[in-house]
Amino acid sequence: MMSEKAGYSLMIHGGAGALDNIRDSDTAVRYLESLRGILEHGRDILGLGGSALEAVEACASLLEDDPVFNAGCGSVLNEDGKVEMDAAIMDGRDLSAGAVAAVDNIANPIQLARLVMTMSEHVLLIAEGAERFAEHCGMERAPENYFYTPDRIEQLKLARLKHKVMLDHDSTEEDSEDQKYGTIGAVAYDMQGNLAAATSTGGIVNKRMGRVGDSPIIGAGVYADNETCAVSATGYGEDFMRTVIAKTISDFVYLKDMDAEEATRAGIEYLRRRVKGRGGVIVIDRNGNCSSGFTTKKMIHGWIEKGGEAVVRF
Ligand code: GLY
Repeated sequence: MMSEKAGYSLMIHGGAGALDNIRDSDTAVRYLESLRGILEHGRDILGLGGSALEAVEACASLLEDDPVFNAGCGSVLNEDGKVEMDAAIMDGRDLSAGAVAAVDNIANPIQLARLVMTMSEHVLLIAEGAERFAEHCGMERAPENYFYTPDRIEQLKLARLKHKVMLDHDSTEEDSEDQKYGTIGAVAYDMQGNLAAATSTGGIVNKRMGRVGDSPIIGAGVYADNETCAVSATGYGEDFMRTVIAKTISDFVYLKDMDAEEATRAGIEYLRRRVKGRGGVIVIDRNGNCSSGFTTKKMIHGWIEKGGEAVVRF
């Protein structure tokens, strides 16, 4: 993609996988229009001089608010039929970061992650501790019925029948119908040249209680450093944790002087070769260049590169 330094850039994703559930054009339009609206909201922030951090939090919150995505109100259910969400946010200016894991009754876990970053001396809070912290910060709790949609209940039933966990949008021949949900994320480059990243998820359908994925793990599902790039991942979390994929991509920029496209390619190659990783990443580098890569058939994502037109695709 373009290489000169300019303006602002923004990328968002809504999951990776076979996306076999998105077969008809109405469903495809529904996803793409959601992404386009969210990108334009992010443009409003960045175009007026807002920070990359503000933009990724706002875009991730909107993705969490849309039930078609596996985060916030659209989160998938674990083996007990409960929601357990993970989220993280990172500021490339000073490497400050905040994350939460295995939380429920929080409408926007990404906002709680930001509070962990700004209002606590910690990086990661989990489960009851994170929820107590939410209360301490005066964050309103969402009612249970905010989360449990008929679609997700059906999806869990199916996973139980097959005695398996289901991956983000992924599919095999036998489960291709069911894969509707995936992690969400945003990365941004603002007009001051700062980078930020945010990732949020309900995880994997029928996951064990207490399972935490890559999304709240700094360096795995999320990373941002003004000296290198901002990364958000989506897919099978265990693969990203084992390869520390977001930091690995950042290291390709730092140690090998790669741009976004080269580092993304190198990261995806490493993910595929070392662990047969399933999923994808969005990346903006220190010059505002945008790139994406995935090992799955598709990834729902979109971008605005250096103030240009919004592009959305699977
Ligand atoms: N990438 C989201 C998860 O594995 O939980």
